[in-house]
Amino acid sequence: MIVVTGATGNIGAALVRQLNASGVPLRALTRDANRAQVPSGVEVIEGDPQHTETLKRSLDGADRIFLIPQAVGGTAPVLETARHLGVRHVVLVSSLLAQTHPESFIGRSARKNEQEAQDSGLAWTLLRPWEFASNTLAWAPTIRGEGTVRVPFSGLPSPAVHPSDIAAVAARALSEEGHHTQTYPLTGPQSLTPREKTQAIATAVGRELRFDEYHSPQELRRIADEAPDHTAQGLMVPGVCALESPGALSTVQTVTGSPARTFQQWVHDNSEAFN
Ligand SMILES: NC(=O)c1ccc[n+]([C@@H]2O[C@H](COP(=O)([O-])OP(=O)(O)OC[C@H]3O[C@@H](n4cnc5c(N)ncnc54)[C@H](OP(=O)(O)O)[C@@H]3O)[C@@H](O)[C@H]2O)c1
Repeated sequence: MIVVTGATGNIGAALVRQLNASGVPLRALTRDANRAQVPSGVEVIEGDPQHTETLKRSLDGADRIFLIPQAVGGTAPVLETARHLGVRHVVLVSSLLAQTHPESFIGRSARKNEQEAQDSGLAWTLLRPWEFASNTLAWAPTIRGEGTVRVPFSGLPSPAVHPSDIAAVAARALSEEGHHTQTYPLTGPQSLTPREKTQAIATAVGRELRFDEYHSPQELRRIADEAPDHTAQGLMVPGVCALESPGALSTVQTVTGSPARTFQQWVHDNSEAFN
């Protein structure tokens, strides 16, 4: 039995579909069962994952857990309960910033979660995704309303990863042998600038979109200098990456046997959000 936390989210919803299609018994954990669009046959556990009672109901009889720290409010308490209840393997969603920018706010927090998984007494697999393609959903309101992508700065080229590919790697790690003690850095297959992503969305929706960058480089430097630690080091604006990426990596293809999905594929899969 596999327990999927964050089951209504970008990765979790795709993972539930993929595992269910391959016939693996699983439970989906959510705070709101009405929002959980899970396929029939999937057991849904509703409750607050920060409550021990919810965790016990979810993990009882399970042997593997897919863990999104943000969805459960932390890594260590969940894994402690999991170990007590006999869970043997955790697949943890971390961040590639743990590797590329370990001193950044997100990199430090991701590394702490990883360490807690590694110290948990369970077998572990770490997933380190780069920026998600789904971050560009933050652009949907101004695309729909004004035909514009409005961002504070133009950002760097970035190989955004399709959440379904993170799910595909997780599905392999949860259901095959050979993934214990493995760390998987995950990216999409090509680096695109925000302007190029805007063009990809424009092509998919069939209309022109404006790209409006509203700070000069000088203004941005001042904002970064005055910003708190995490903003200054990352300037994390949804869909706009300010951090130099590692470039496109081949891990998705190596683990799943299929090429990583393109950003254009993600837009195709989610085009209704921009219409
Ligand atoms: N976005 C990126 O670019 C990026 C890059 C690298 C790593 N990551 C990591 O990927 C993970 C996010 O994955 P995801 O996008 O699949 O997750 P998500 O869709 O943001 O959220 C997953 C689920 O967590 C629950 N949740 C969301 N916000 C919450 C909150 N404030 N408090 C409690 N529960 C909350 C919701 O489930 P219910 O309401 O159904 O309970 C939600 O469906 C994070 O660990 C993040 O650090 C993200």
